[in-house]
Amino acid sequence: MEIITAVKGFKDILPEETEKWRFVENVAREVFSRFGFREIRLPVLEKTDLFKRGIGESTDIVEKEMYTFLDRGDEYLTLRPEATASVIRAYLEHSLHNAQAITRLFTIGPMFRRERPQKGRFRQFHQIDAELLGLDDPRADAEIILMLMHFLDRVGLKKVSLELNSLGCSSCRPAFRNVITEFLQGKEAGLCDDCKRRLGTNPLRVFDCKSKECQEIIRGAPHLGDFLCGDCREHFGKVTSALEEFAIPYTVNPGMVRGLDYYTKTTFEVTTEHLGSQNAVVGGGRYDRLVQELGGPDIPGIGFAVGFERLLALLEVPESASERPPDIFLASLGEQARNLAFTLCNQWRLKGIYAEQEFSSKSLKSQMKKADRLNCSYTLILGDREIEERKVELRDMKTGTQQTVSLDDLDQHILNLIKER
Ligand code: HAM
Repeated sequence: MEIITAVKGFKDILPEETEKWRFVENVAREVFSRFGFREIRLPVLEKTDLFKRGIGESTDIVEKEMYTFLDRGDEYLTLRPEATASVIRAYLEHSLHNAQAITRLFTIGPMFRRERPQKGRFRQFHQIDAELLGLDDPRADAEIILMLMHFLDRVGLKKVSLELNSLGCSSCRPAFRNVITEFLQGKEAGLCDDCKRRLGTNPLRVFDCKSKECQEIIRGAPHLGDFLCGDCREHFGKVTSALEEFAIPYTVNPGMVRGLDYYTKTTFEVTTEHLGSQNAVVGGGRYDRLVQELGGPDIPGIGFAVGFERLLALLEVPESASERPPDIFLASLGEQARNLAFTLCNQWRLKGIYAEQEFSSKSLKSQMKKADRLNCSYTLILGDREIEERKVELRDMKTGTQQTVSLDDLDQHILNLIKER
């Protein structure tokens, strides 16, 4: 019979990899806590309207990438394609803004987008997401970017670039939108089908289009940076000088518009040359209107999301994150010995020892080979005859020396030996 495989674009994370995942999660938790962020855990399923309103109806995500279904004919539900909208939903639903004027939250978990799977792009992927709510101070932008860059450094990610842009606000962006619409008029024929449509709904999206033809056309377009209002210009200037104070290198990428509609002012991406076309490891930015658009008070926010899989693809596993070998392996010969091995092994595990036992009746030679392969520190050799004589052999796998231990003292002997490591 054929086996049933996982869904296309949905990946298993095998035990060899989970150590790496935990290492990154632990660093995130430690670094983010130091900056005052607290963990929030959210459902993966939300009402579809949350993302339509939050991310924007004319984005690729909402138009064609969401896993949406009608739940028993009642209401439309969606597997979350990103975390920001859900974080704000929970923030408003539980009135977290009433408890604290400034709220810093982070969450780690799976997101779902029905994109074409390729290197670095999956349909279920994971994000480490951080959101800072209640501050419109440009120093908050610099602070969250500083935290992000420190986190990336701590996990060992080298050779990345931080790209910054400002997307303006509701007073300067609409005017720029008209400028771009005018610029693209007369050039429609050269645009891809998606961008032809975007021209009417969301012309700034053309900057983000991957098609060569559209990139060629948009290269000559005016830049939003030249149309920013005084307030946005000043804000961006303060963000960049605060980053300079902390010696964080960045480049301004005037063509970076981000794929979600909620951004205002500062946006940023961390990119690398090593991921092929899916080169963004992190995306983020300020969203001063989103809380209001989701029905809440006028509260500004800024955040980012790290693509977990993309980050891991770039990391070397640190030695400390590799699997811990067992302290002791219990080799046994004979039924009585196997029973005793089972009892001892599990008793020791309950006392905090990493123990492994042999369940089958393999030869001593093959059990010793296994002990070697496991890279354990000690091997205990139990045979029916030794049990009758109430003494067993304990081998130190590093030195190759062997000693005879009385069964009556064995428990204490092992506990002392292994506690001392
Ligand atoms: P985003 O740029 O859509 O932003 O996604 C952030 C990161 O998630 C990307 O840079 C990438 O590393 C990873 N990612 C996205 N799609 C995929 C995929 N199909 N496969 C693998 N990795 C992927 C957001 O999601 C915003 N919510 C970020 C944010 C938080 N802005 C403010 N706060």
